[in-house]
Amino acid sequence: MKITELLEVEHEFLRSLMETFSQWITEGVAPDKLRERAAMLEIAIDDHATREEKLLFEPLAFCSTVARELIGMMEMVHVEVRDLFEQVADPARDPKEQLWTILMLTDEHFTKEETGVFPMAERLLDPEILQV
Ligand SMILES: [Fe+2]
Ligand SMILES: [Fe+2]
Repeated sequence: MKITELLEVEHEFLRSLMETFSQWITEGVAPDKLRERAAMLEIAIDDHATREEKLLFEPLAFCSTVARELIGMMEMVHVEVRDLFEQVADPARDPKEQLWTILMLTDEHFTKEETGVFPMAERLLDPEILQV
């Protein structure tokens, strides 16, 4: 299996988790419960992002200037999402607004990876590096 295929399967799983999460927010689940559940969503998203950075972004960044620039933009979103989860964990504030931003940002980010980064990786990376 290619690393890009594995990451796409993870996107699919995370998207269904995020869909459930958006329902919880809409249904008015209490802020402390949302925070508890957000901690699990954070682990799942961060686990994916860390694997992606290590197995895909690192080798791809060496391939070309365009690839490096694109990876830089993707990494910025990873950092932004990690920062938003930190804000969500703060019991002094209502987590809803940040949670909506995380869900929207992550969904857009996944689409950019699927349509831009992954096809580029499949073109530029050696087949041995792509295989997991
Ligand atoms: Fe990503
Ligand atoms: Fe991803």
